[in-house]
Amino acid sequence: MLKAEDNEILTRVGPGTPMGNLLRRYWTPACLSAEIPEPGGQPARVRLLGENLVAFRDTRGRIGLVQENCPHRGASLYFGRNEDAAIRCVYHGWAFDTDGRCVDMPSEPVPFCEKVRMRAYPVHESGGIVWAYLGPRETMTPFRDFGTDGLADGEFLASKQHSTCNWVQAMEGNIDTSHISHLHQWDGIDDIPDDGSDKPGYPSNAMSWKFWRHDRAPRLEVDDTWFGYRYAGIRTTPNGNTHVRVTAYALPYATMVASIPFSVGCGMFVPIDDENCWRYFSAPKAWRNPRKYGGENLFSFAPFSTPVSGDRNGITPRLYTAENDYRMSREVREQRGIFSGVDDFVSQDLMVTESMGPIYDRSQEQLGSTDRAITRMRHILLTAAKGLAEGNEPPALAGDFRSIRGAEKILEPGEDWRVLGTGADPVVAESATATTGVQETDMVD
Ligand code: FES
Ligand SMILES: [Fe+2]
Repeated sequence: MLKAEDNEILTRVGPGTPMGNLLRRYWTPACLSAEIPEPGGQPARVRLLGENLVAFRDTRGRIGLVQENCPHRGASLYFGRNEDAAIRCVYHGWAFDTDGRCVDMPSEPVPFCEKVRMRAYPVHESGGIVWAYLGPRETMTPFRDFGTDGLADGEFLASKQHSTCNWVQAMEGNIDTSHISHLHQWDGIDDIPDDGSDKPGYPSNAMSWKFWRHDRAPRLEVDDTWFGYRYAGIRTTPNGNTHVRVTAYALPYATMVASIPFSVGCGMFVPIDDENCWRYFSAPKAWRNPRKYGGENLFSFAPFSTPVSGDRNGITPRLYTAENDYRMSREVREQRGIFSGVDDFVSQDLMVTESMGPIYDRSQEQLGSTDRAITRMRHILLTAAKGLAEGNEPPALAGDFRSIRGAEKILEPGEDWRVLGTGADPVVAESATATTGVQETDMVD
């Protein structure tokens, strides 16, 4: 549980709040590049950390992220004309460049452009995402590259999906390994044949489903790092081996969820406001897995209608919502043996995290040992937010963010899970130098 005042600090993100101030010190996804594809094209509405903004790619190709309301009398610049290297308000024709400077004021006999400046945030485009820095200019740090900088169009995945709950509440699902033994289960796992990979080393993805089902009460170990932490969910396999799923959490909103042999994708939970968030997924599209560890894709065995794999780009529509009870049905539960009764994998997560209400009162929780990673994340965020209010610099502003990975394996005798997925892991080094074994990014949470 959490004290009510800490729950407030954790969840409120508007300007001037402790967490809002902390989040504004990190480069943050503002929208997908695909939302403003062409120079001079239609602007996009962006609501970020409780601020209403407009993103546009001007006729020179530069991206602006500016306040939505025109500084004159407040008409929305979403309806503005994107022309002449500026966005022009259609009410009285004032025009502003990507830096927020007024560059034309045709409605005034004596223009006073130099006196008018609108809120405009620095942006950086990487991996199909327009990132923004919303903090004070004097504390702006270099862009944090999670592994997409320099990748050409078509070499990355960038998607996002709306969720109607607080960003921390949504993120808690990605650092909660125990729920995969329940929420995402289905009876057919019992019929997957044993392929003999329940032994030290990399098991198949098929057998991984069986391990989650076999040991439904994992032991959690959390290891603090410079960027946040990595934690292991430790399960005993049917053959008595030690299976670990290692997931990373990087301040303030990023998760690298376990997969075999290690994970390259980044799930990010970005606050729209206190009660809504975007679930972003960003990753290089292909990576090297020369020995094909894991074998067939995890979702090739699952009965879910929309597997989390393949070419996922753009805004993922919400077809399973609170309004239609996430399409939960007895038929799905009883005839198809899907534990949750919901046949879409991610919607299973959305159902449980959104049904808590937009901001759950965490003073009402009864936490157990399998919630250890969640409580650690909250503690790290609260400490950073309170510390910043007292003048301490936030953690994890700089470092090699490309080196943060999840992992999954059956441990050899004496093997330390903390090495898995790091630069010291031979499988990571092998992947970096391999010329064969290109594999599509996959993700499960
Ligand atoms: S409100 Fe935008 S120019 Fe007048
Ligand atoms: Fe999940």
